[in-house]
Amino acid sequence: MGSIQVEFKNPATTTLLELARSLRTYYDLKAESPISDDAIEAIVQDSVLHVPSSFNTHTSRVVLLLKEEHKKAWDIAINAMEGLLAAGQVPEEMFETQAKPKLNGLRAAYGTVLFFVDYDSLAPIKEKFSIYADKFDPFAMESNAMAQYLVWVALEAEGFGANLQHYSLLIDKQIQKTWSLPTSWKLDAQLVFGVSTTDSGEKAFTPLEGSFKVFGKSL
Ligand SMILES: Cc1cc2nc3c(=O)[nH]c(=O)nc-3n(C[C@H](O)[C@H](O)[C@H](O)COP(=O)(O)O)c2cc1C
Repeated sequence: MGSIQVEFKNPATTTLLELARSLRTYYDLKAESPISDDAIEAIVQDSVLHVPSSFNTHTSRVVLLLKEEHKKAWDIAINAMEGLLAAGQVPEEMFETQAKPKLNGLRAAYGTVLFFVDYDSLAPIKEKFSIYADKFDPFAMESNAMAQYLVWVALEAEGFGANLQHYSLLIDKQIQKTWSLPTSWKLDAQLVFGVSTTDSGEKAFTPLEGSFKVFGKSL
C-alpha cells in the first residue's frame, strides 16, 4: 500500500523494504526465542557497530538483557510504578487496569535491549565545532534511534515480535545501579522482544499524499 511497484537491481533492496513493511509492534510476547542467544547478540553488536553517527562520534551504548536479567529490568519498572501508586501519583484503577498488566506483559517476554546515549562523550567535539554545539545531542539521539530501528527490524526478521518502550525516567537510576553502568550513559529506549502470541492486526497509515512530495522525476 502507498508505494509504486518497481523491480530493484538488488534483491536485497526488496527484502529490506519487505522487512520494513512487515515491522509491527507486538505486546503479547512469551519468553521463547526462535534463534540462539549468540544470534541475538550478533544482531545487537552489528547494529551498535555499524549504525552511523554524526561526525562518527559513536555515542550509542547498548545493553542486552536476556531471560532472568530481562525480568529484573521489568521488576524495576513494576516497583517504580508501585512507588508512584503508594505516593498517590498514579490512580489505583489506572495502575490495576493499565500499568500493571502492561508491565507484567513486558516482563513475560524473552529479552530487552536497553539503548543509551553517552552525551558526555560529546564534550570534545562540541568544543571543536562550537558552531554545531547544540546540534550534537539531537544528532546522538537520531543515531540511537537508527540503532533501535535496525535491531527491531532484524529481530522481527528472525521471528521475534517486539515493542519499543520509554520508561527511562522511572527506571534509569535503578537500571544503572543494577548492572553497574557508567553514569554518563543516559537511558533512552527499551526494546522488548519475545515470541508473539497474537496477530498484530491491520497496519494503520497516514496517507502518503500528505507526507511525501517528489520533484524532477523522469517519466
Ligand atoms: C519513536 C517511537 C517511540 C515509541 N514509543 C512507544 C512507547 O513508549 N510505548 C509503546 O507501547 N509503544 C511505543 N512505540 C510504538 C508505536 O506506538 C507503534 O509503533 C505505532 O503505534 C504503530 O504500530 P505498529 O508498530 O504496530 O505499526 C513507539 C514507536 C516509535 C517509533
